[in-house]
Amino acid sequence: MKRPPRKGAPIPNRTAIDTRLPADHFARTLRADVAEGLTAEPKKLSPKWFYDAHGSVLFDRITRLPEYYPARAERMVLRAHAEEIARHTGARTLIELGSGSSEKTRLLIDALTAGGTLKLYAPLDVSETALENAAESLCRDYPDLRVEATVADFGTDLQLPDAGPRLVAFLGSTLGNLDTDQRAAFLARTRATLTREDDALLLGVDLVKDPKTLIRAYDDAQGVTAAFNKNLLRVLNRELDADFDPGAFDHRAVWNAEAERMEMHLRARVTHTVKIPTLDMTVDFTRGEDLCTEISVKFRQEPLELSLIHTPSPRDRQKSRMPSSA
Ligand code: SAH
Ligand code: TRP
Repeated sequence: MKRPPRKGAPIPNRTAIDTRLPADHFARTLRADVAEGLTAEPKKLSPKWFYDAHGSVLFDRITRLPEYYPARAERMVLRAHAEEIARHTGARTLIELGSGSSEKTRLLIDALTAGGTLKLYAPLDVSETALENAAESLCRDYPDLRVEATVADFGTDLQLPDAGPRLVAFLGSTLGNLDTDQRAAFLARTRATLTREDDALLLGVDLVKDPKTLIRAYDDAQGVTAAFNKNLLRVLNRELDADFDPGAFDHRAVWNAEAERMEMHLRARVTHTVKIPTLDMTVDFTRGEDLCTEISVKFRQEPLELSLIHTPSPRDRQKSRMPSSA
């Protein structure tokens, strides 16, 4: 996160990384976010900050945990439907928002390559290291594919490459990590950028299911999810010179039945005060107080489909496909 942004830094040929975030983007937005979230009642932080280099590695391990069924389920859905998606979209450009390791995306790339239409893969993520690693390995494995990665925040910046037909993929239940307002804004903006008749959206989300399965998925036996959650505190320590003691918090995965969402909390084990000198701030935690670090909304298919259909578009056209991951 601290590395200066680079414009068009080449990895192998056919691959480019464009950093659209201004040099001080992380510093500025992280500060604003932390200042606001830690003075809110109850305290909360934005999940964007999970994904530094270490966080991206931990997330990759989460996707391979036996308890974390969403990744497996989504892979199965993609495997079963990739060919149909390729046929239906005939995509020349595959754009992926929050692409991470692009591991599952290979199923789409394979099908679109076999269909003979795909020329460009354009992943977008806030994590530069995740993009670098993904771009490098894709470039190696797909000799005819051009990879143009973009370091950007899909919450504010959604410029898409022009060449159509375009398929925008938003997988991994990342839509569920946005709250109701953010989600509506995101969908409206995405809708507004899909201006061509042959544009398509592929959304991968998780559905409501029994709370036991859900809680296990977000609180695994090996403690990888707990380490991922606490990594957020290490990011704040490093970026803001804060003095969070990760050992002073417990990871908790909570099912919020009313909002139908999982919530990741860090619960203070003892009453203590954290100093954040960069923000000229001290934050008091009482014993048992929760800091909410992430939500993961679980959807019901029909209402979600309706909300997609009713997302207004410039030309009021609707085109979406939605395999549900479980
Ligand atoms: N799509 C992958 C990764 C999901 S994890 C999968 O299904 O396995 C969520 C990814 O979104 C992470 O790589 C994270 O860095 C990225 N991300 C989170 N918030 C983002 C934002 N606001 N803008 C861009 N990328 C974001
Ligand atoms: N998009 C993923 C999800 O909602 C993110 C995620 C998985 C996550 N496990 C997590 C976020 C644990 C925070 C903590 O399933």
